[in-house]
Amino acid sequence: MTLKVRYPDIDYSKIKAHWARNLAFSHDRNASSFIPQPVEPWLIRLLQSAIEKIPADDPKLREDVLGFIRQESQHYKQHRLFNDRLIEQGYPKLRELEQELAADLERFLKDRSLKFCLAYADGFESLGAISGQVWFENSDEMLEGADPNAEALWKWHMAEEFEHREVCYDIYHALFGRGIWNGIVNGYFYRLYGFIFAMVHLRGFAAKLYNYMIEIDKETMSEADKEKFEQDEKDFKAFQKKHFFAPLLKNFLPWYDPGNKRTPRGLFEYLRQFEAGGKYAKAGARG
Ligand SMILES: [Fe+2]
Ligand SMILES: [Fe+2]
Repeated sequence: MTLKVRYPDIDYSKIKAHWARNLAFSHDRNASSFIPQPVEPWLIRLLQSAIEKIPADDPKLREDVLGFIRQESQHYKQHRLFNDRLIEQGYPKLRELEQELAADLERFLKDRSLKFCLAYADGFESLGAISGQVWFENSDEMLEGADPNAEALWKWHMAEEFEHREVCYDIYHALFGRGIWNGIVNGYFYRLYGFIFAMVHLRGFAAKLYNYMIEIDKETMSEADKEKFEQDEKDFKAFQKKHFFAPLLKNFLPWYDPGNKRTPRGLFEYLRQFEAGGKYAKAGARG
């Protein structure tokens, strides 16, 4: 696998905070969009420090880590543009809330072990790999009539997340999961700890942002709008339960390996739009 870096040219200028018909879906994704901005530069710093520890007999992993860093370094920059568009639509506190996650991550780097940080990173990445599948195979009902620019940001990002899904898993295992004992204790149990920790931590963060945006929206909602929103939330919860939780459970299997996941339908075809000559490719960019 050679990880390709792509440089999107997406027009964020007209994206509305309510960019999909289902308000709960829009705001769930909007809240999640504030995760990459602090997490991905943190991941890059983490892997830049861990790359030196990769065993010499694994040059492929070193190459994958460098490709991973190149891809992540584009992701959070695009989310910044999207997030700024959201903030200016009447949600100023999002910027402040975003700092809370950045502060937590700094604390992890300072106070927690490399093993913990890599297990957390793998947990974050494994959520991205599941999202890749959901975006490409299960999201049509939510995306009907949605803003194509917002959709392009998410599908490009989640496709690349899928593409590099095993890099953090592999580096974590190369550093801490080699041998039978380490394979069981670190490769399985501690990996799950990192996964659950990351999931609870990041979902908790996103929930705060979601609730804040909904609270602002409710101030100007009519009774009919409120009723529609309640139905949207019910539909979105059912959607999540149906498409997100079953693949999530697979992460708990002892033989879980993200590298073995089936590529979602149409994923690489979609990514071509972000490569030279494609609809969303930045003119003159490599790739
Ligand atoms: Fe990313
Ligand atoms: Fe990633």
